[in-house]
Amino acid sequence: MTGKICGTGSCVPKAVWDNRKLAELVDTSDEWIRERTGVARRHIAAEQETTAYLASNAAQAALQNAGIEAEELELIITATISPGDIMPGTSCEVQKLIGAVNATCFDLNAACTGFLFALNTAQAYIAQGIYRTVLVIGAETLSNLTNWQDRSTCILFGDGAGAVVLRTEETGRFAQVTHSIGEKGGVLTCTSRNQKKYEGSPTAPETYMQMDGKEVFKFAVSKVPEAIEELLKREQMDTSQIDHFVLHQANERIVRSVAKRLKEDMKKFPVNMEEYGNTSSASIPILLDELNRREMLKRGEYLVLSGFGAGLSYGASLMEW
Ligand code: COA
Repeated sequence: MTGKICGTGSCVPKAVWDNRKLAELVDTSDEWIRERTGVARRHIAAEQETTAYLASNAAQAALQNAGIEAEELELIITATISPGDIMPGTSCEVQKLIGAVNATCFDLNAACTGFLFALNTAQAYIAQGIYRTVLVIGAETLSNLTNWQDRSTCILFGDGAGAVVLRTEETGRFAQVTHSIGEKGGVLTCTSRNQKKYEGSPTAPETYMQMDGKEVFKFAVSKVPEAIEELLKREQMDTSQIDHFVLHQANERIVRSVAKRLKEDMKKFPVNMEEYGNTSSASIPILLDELNRREMLKRGEYLVLSGFGAGLSYGASLMEW
């Protein structure tokens, strides 16, 4: 048994900050950001646009798209590194907001690989026959973790949420490859402010996202194709059999490099970071929702999803649309 995506949804904050707005905050330019990252704009949450608010709006859109009621959901998993509250978990807040009274709810933190790992977790429950109807969300308000004085990071990130509804089907294919490299965790970090050592200095730089951009770039362009190749080899498939490669939207140069290494046309690698920046765990489900609503995905097509990010962690999943 596998979970088939039967509905997608997304929600992004109303406010849009373009590159020119960032050039007012730090020493940068629209040209530099576009050329090095492919990002032109990002959506930035207002105070009331919390992670749970964005997540529940994305969830409601996905339920509507799937044509199912919130009460039918048996499990909700939200991937996030930027929850509004440490407890209750964002998934429980979503449950309350959408009225999914029958669902078991928990959150998962795997940074930018979060949605992929949440999807894999949902699929494992489905394969075991434990749950049949599952909502998987990626939701972030990274603007709360962004140091707006650090030009090496603030140009990259944005806020948003995406969600998919999975329904059990007897047939269909799902396979996954996942890896973590804790030893390299220091290249992409954000320390919790809720610690005694920060009582006197709650805005210490290490409590915002910090990154060794070059190391993260090298990691992504080598490990993402490796994971995809490992997955396809295990599944006895070839890249030519894959219709869409839906990658985490961190940087257009990373996506181009992966396409080149796999010797595949960029046409198979949709990108939307121009509009949203890197929304961490939300980027893959937001992109899936856009592709779905534009009717660019056809039943039976093969998708490879791939996430990578802090941990370090990365992986690739194969699914049939
Ligand atoms: N605007 C203008 N100049 C900038 C800048 C900015 N926002 N940020 C850095 N620079 C400058 C640097 O100071 C450096 O100047 P110098 O040559 O005079 O020293 C120059 O631009 C090149 O900096 P560098 O850090 O080598 O740039 P880069 O080509 O590596 O690009 C990133 C920087 C962050 C865009 C790139 O490393 C990257 O995308 N890494 C991956 C990040 C990522 O995806 N993270 C999330 C993963 S989930």
